[in-house]
Amino acid sequence: MFEEKKRRHSELVKLLSKYSKQYYIFDTPTISDAEYDKLYNELLTIEAEYPQLITKNSPSQKVGAKTTINFKKVTHQDKMLSLENAYNEQDISDFINRVKKLCNKEQIDFMLEPKLDGLSASIIYKNGILVQASTRGDGNIGEDITQNILTINNVPKKIPINNELEIRGEVIMLKKDFELLNKLREKNGEKIFANPRNAAAGSLRQLDASITASRKLSFFAYAILGEDLLYQEEVLKKLENYGFTVSKEVKLCHSQKEALQFYKKLESLRSDLEYDIDGVVYKTNDFSLQKLMGNATKYPRHSIAYKFPAQQAETTILNITLQVGRTGNITPVAELKPVNIGGVIVSRATLHNKDEIEKKDIRIGDRIIIQRAGDVIPQVLYPLLNRRSKDSTPFIFPKNCPCCGSELFKEQKEVAIKCINSNCPAQLVEKLKHFVSRQAFNIEGLGEQNIKFLFDKGIIKSFVDIFYLEEKNEIFKLENEEGWGKQSVYNLFASINKARNITLDRFIYSLGIPQFGKTTSRLTAKFFGNYHRFLNSIKNNSLSELINVNGIGESMIKDIQNFFEIKNNINTLINLAGDENKTGQVYVTDIENNQYGNNLANLTIVFTGILSNISREQAKILAENNGAKVSSSISKKTSFVIAGDNAGQKLQKAQNLGIKIISEEEFLKLIERT
Ligand code: IVH
Repeated sequence: MFEEKKRRHSELVKLLSKYSKQYYIFDTPTISDAEYDKLYNELLTIEAEYPQLITKNSPSQKVGAKTTINFKKVTHQDKMLSLENAYNEQDISDFINRVKKLCNKEQIDFMLEPKLDGLSASIIYKNGILVQASTRGDGNIGEDITQNILTINNVPKKIPINNELEIRGEVIMLKKDFELLNKLREKNGEKIFANPRNAAAGSLRQLDASITASRKLSFFAYAILGEDLLYQEEVLKKLENYGFTVSKEVKLCHSQKEALQFYKKLESLRSDLEYDIDGVVYKTNDFSLQKLMGNATKYPRHSIAYKFPAQQAETTILNITLQVGRTGNITPVAELKPVNIGGVIVSRATLHNKDEIEKKDIRIGDRIIIQRAGDVIPQVLYPLLNRRSKDSTPFIFPKNCPCCGSELFKEQKEVAIKCINSNCPAQLVEKLKHFVSRQAFNIEGLGEQNIKFLFDKGIIKSFVDIFYLEEKNEIFKLENEEGWGKQSVYNLFASINKARNITLDRFIYSLGIPQFGKTTSRLTAKFFGNYHRFLNSIKNNSLSELINVNGIGESMIKDIQNFFEIKNNINTLINLAGDENKTGQVYVTDIENNQYGNNLANLTIVFTGILSNISREQAKILAENNGAKVSSSISKKTSFVIAGDNAGQKLQKAQNLGIKIISEEEFLKLIERT
C-alpha cells in the first residue's frame, strides 16, 4: 500500500510541477484548473496520510512556481502567501469554526471580496512615489516588473503619503480588453490567448515594457502593508482614497448565512462582471484577530478562497456534427465524451462556425477544454495540442447539408455557411419550433419531440397545419399513437385554440424573418398598428417605409423584403391570418391591446449591479415587454440606468455622462409591477 502511494505521490509531484510551470511560466495551461485542483487535492490527501513523503520539492510546499531567469529578482519584505481553497459550505463551516476557536470568539465579521483571476503583484511607494513593483514568484522572491506596472493606466504613480508603503493586488485584463486584444492578434495571425488570465500574464511579464503598454491591463488593489489600519474594510476605503481601483462587489458579513447569500449573488453575477473571478475570498475583517491567528506554511489562517464550482473541464471530441438553423445557418457542434461541469453533464458544445474550427485547429479525437458559463451554451475553448495523437488530421468541413444534401453556400465576407434550400426538412422543423415557442405563438404541448413526430408523419408540414390539427384528427387519430394519451391530445388542442388570438408583434416574430427578433418585430408592429396595415404594406411593396422607424436599418428592411418576395411566405401569412378575401385561422390583435404597458417605448436602458427582487433576465424581459431596448453598455444613447446593489464602473460612467440613474424599485414602479 505504502509503495503504491509513494509511487503515485512521486507521479503527482512530477505532473503538478509540470502543469504549474506551464501555467505560471509559459502562460499556456494544458489542463483545466479543476483538473489541477483535483490532482493537487489527491497529493494533499496522500501527504496527510504519509507525512514522510513531503519533500521541499512537493507542490504543497511551494507557492506558485519558481521565477524565470530573465527578470531582476526582488525579495519580498513580507512573504506573499497563497490562499487555502474551500469548495463547499462544509469547508467554510470548518474554516469559520477554526477561526472562532483560534480567536476564542463567538462571532466573527468577514469581509468578502471577489477572487480576481489574474496575477498578484506588489507595488512599493516611497515618499508617495511608485518605486518598485514585483510579481509573487515563489512567495519569497519575485520578478521586478516596475517598468511594466508603470504602463498600467489605473495604477497611481503617486499617492498622498510620506512613509514607505506596499500595496498588493491583482493584475487582470478586463473581459472587453481581452476580446479586443484577441481580435487584433487574430487579424495579425498571432496566437490567441486562451483566457483573460493568460493574456494578462503574457502581457505583464514582458521584458520589453512597451509591449505591456500596448496591452490594456488593469490593477485591482486589496491590501496595504506598512500602515496601521484596524480593519480590512478600512483598507478598501483607504485604497480608494489613494486612487486605486478596488472591487465594488464587496460585502462585510456578520454570519455564515449572510456570507453564503453574497457568495451566491456573486456567482449569479459572474458572467456579467467586467472581469473574470473564480471564487470569493473570505477575510477576517479585524486585523488584531488576523495577527493573533498568524500564518501556516503557505496560507494565512485568517482568510480562505471559496471557489465557484468549475466552469471548465477537459474531455474528448468524439465527433463534429452540423446543426441546421431555421434560416439555414449551419452551426458545427462538438459531440463530447460526457463530462460533469459544476454539477451539469455536458455532452455537446458549440464550435460557432467554420472559421472558429480552423482558427483553433479543432479536430475529431482532440482532448479539449470546454467552458460552461451561466446559461450560455457550452463552448470549446482550445485543444490540448500536446495530447493530440500523431495520426490526427485537420477537420474537413462538409460540402453538403447533413439533412437535405444540398450544397452548402457561403456568402463573401460572411462567416456563416448556409443551406439555401428553403424546403430543407431540418430548417422546416426549426421554423416550426420557433413558431410555437414561448415568445411567439406559445403553444404548450408542442415541444421539439412532438413537432418532429408530427412533421415526420407528414401531419404538420407548415405553420397553418397546426390550426387544422383538431379538425383533421378524425383521420390522424393522434390519441392512438404511441406516447399520446387522450388527455394530452385534448390539452394540445386547447392550447392551440388559446393561441389563435395573438398580438401583432408576436405574430411577426413567429414568422422567423431573418433579423426580426423580438425587438424589431415589436417596433414593426408598433409602426403599422394593426395586421391589415402590415399586410397592405407587403402587398403594395412598400415595406421600405419601415426606414422611418428608429432602430430598423436598411439590412433588416432588405431581409423582410426578401422574405415576402417569396410567394409562399405571403401565402403562409394569408393562410394564417387572412385578408379581405379570406378568413384566416388566427386572429391578430392590435398592439395596443397588448397585455403589457408601453411605458418604456423608445427608451434604451442599461441594468447594472445586483437586483434583489427579480433576476437580471426577468428584468430584461419585463423591460422589453414594455417597449424598452435593453443594452449592455452605457453610451450617449442610454436613456437611463437601473442600478442595483454594488453597481460598478457602468454606474460611474453613467454619472460621468450625466445619465439618469434609477433604483430597482423605481423601475418596477415604471412598469407598474408594484
Ligand atoms: S488576498 C494571503 N484578495 O488569489 C494572500 N487575494 O490564491 C491573500 N486573489 O495570491 C491575498 N483576488 O493573487 C486576496 N480579493 C483578493 C484576491 C486575491 C485574487 C489572488 C491573489 C492570491 C491568490 C491566492
